[in-house]
Amino acid sequence: MTVSPAPVHSSINPRLLDASGLSKTFGIIEVLKDISLTVRAGEVHAIIGENGAGKSTLMKILAGNHQPTRGEIRIDGAPVSFSGPVDAENHGIVLVHQEILLAPDLTVAQNIYLGRELRKGLTVDDQAMRSGARQAIVDLGGYIDPDTIVSRLSIAQRQLVQIARVLLVPHRIVIFDEPTASLTPHETEALLKVIRDIRAKGVGVLYISHRLPEVKEIADRVTVLRDGRLVGSHDAAELQPADMARLMVGRDVAKLYPDRHAAEVRQAVLEVERFEVPGFALDAAFTLRKGEILGFAGLIGAGRTELMEGLVGLRPAKGKVVLNGHPVSFTDVHSSLKAGVAYLSEDRKGKGLLLTKDLRVNLTLASLGKFIRGLQIDRKREGDALDKAIKDFDIRTGTKNILAGQLSGGNQQKLLLAKMMMLDPQVVIIDEPTRGIDIGNKEQIYKFIAALAEEGRSIIVVSSEMPELIGICDRILVMRTGRIVGEVQGEHMTENEIVQLATGVNAGAAA
Ligand SMILES: Nc1ncnc2c1ncn2[C@@H]1O[C@H](COP(=O)(O)OP(=O)(O)OP(=O)(O)O)[C@@H](O)[C@H]1O
Ligand SMILES: [Mg+2]
Repeated sequence: MTVSPAPVHSSINPRLLDASGLSKTFGIIEVLKDISLTVRAGEVHAIIGENGAGKSTLMKILAGNHQPTRGEIRIDGAPVSFSGPVDAENHGIVLVHQEILLAPDLTVAQNIYLGRELRKGLTVDDQAMRSGARQAIVDLGGYIDPDTIVSRLSIAQRQLVQIARVLLVPHRIVIFDEPTASLTPHETEALLKVIRDIRAKGVGVLYISHRLPEVKEIADRVTVLRDGRLVGSHDAAELQPADMARLMVGRDVAKLYPDRHAAEVRQAVLEVERFEVPGFALDAAFTLRKGEILGFAGLIGAGRTELMEGLVGLRPAKGKVVLNGHPVSFTDVHSSLKAGVAYLSEDRKGKGLLLTKDLRVNLTLASLGKFIRGLQIDRKREGDALDKAIKDFDIRTGTKNILAGQLSGGNQQKLLLAKMMMLDPQVVIIDEPTRGIDIGNKEQIYKFIAALAEEGRSIIVVSSEMPELIGICDRILVMRTGRIVGEVQGEHMTENEIVQLATGVNAGAAA
């Protein structure tokens, strides 16, 4: 029997990296203030904090993507100043970014080896790269054909490719910025095992996640950031997830889900019959009622996202859709929006926001008609709308004059919600509403979804987080391999029943 080494974090492990007094200013806004941090060999050091607290910015400084405005980084005791990410890699520091940064038109294998292609003599060794890529992904608990073009992969698959790519670079410190936000439980477990393995080899790991139980499971030490400042570093053994939440948010987060009255049976708003999204969803049928929150559960790849995309006209689809008693057929997302059906994509980068445009443009883009006066856009009204959105949705940014891509990940999600609500939709479909959202903001978003239902809007929530679905939905439909295979409500809304439907395996009956 092999005994996995006890958590190796200990104050006697050698220090790999010391950061002291790091600050970072963008324009006139100081987003990191006087941060000091140590990474030791063989420890998993988690960095937690609310959306916008500065976690990614700090990691990008350590990995050479940003220069600190003040402060010093030492490696093995010697001061360093990175000219860029490659320089940091040469010092053994690698970063798995929070956002997916792959070349969409290249294959999985090409992406994994981009810039460091394997060669046989003078030629590129495609064969070796293919099998290397396949193995790297298997090691992470996945299977992806290395010849697949990346743009055809799901977000979870892209994340695995991105992690595989980084882990192939020789490293002493690996930084994971929210690696599991879009992974399945199985993939998450596989990744945590990989992390334990590299820790056992003496690598230092910096680990960012909003999933606090996961932090509790993997971390040896936890450092908390709040508003760009370091609140404290603790032994993970000393903290429960609830303590972490309190340190991050600065208050108790006792109750995550809002109280909801059992919805009375009200009129059908959206009726779907024999609906098909070729290749992804077959024979779907369901009814969404006024003021209802309807969940869609299922494993990643079950076809939930594609079904929603088909409904709102983002994908070719056929079948019967009746909205308020009238048959409709949406061939593009503008027509569904116009009819009052809004869709919030799970992939904010690909389909949601224009990352190189400012917040104002992003907010009003889909509802520009409201802001036209005469022949011109009324900038003042747009500006007022932005101020209101920042307030209503608590979008945290030092200045509103930044690009959407410069918002922290969680705040991008809030901007998307605000953008969608500018359209005053009757039906709101939200795919993974809280991916990458901190626990305090989750509470806000759940309240917000419940309030939408109270106002008489009808909501569909697609989520891979079962507690979230159970916590906020009136009813949950479960999909498996493209079909709706069951429905749970009331006392049947349990993880156990949902998992059984989603996997087709009766866990209780297993020997
Ligand atoms: N290039 C930039 N220009 C201006 N401001 C920036 C830039 N990059 C980040 N910021 C700001 O710095 C602050 C910290 O952002 P950061 O992305 O580090 O947060 P985070 O802790 O990673 O949040 P999340 O949990 O949402 O990912 C935010 O207010 C963000 O808007
Ligand atoms: Mg971040």
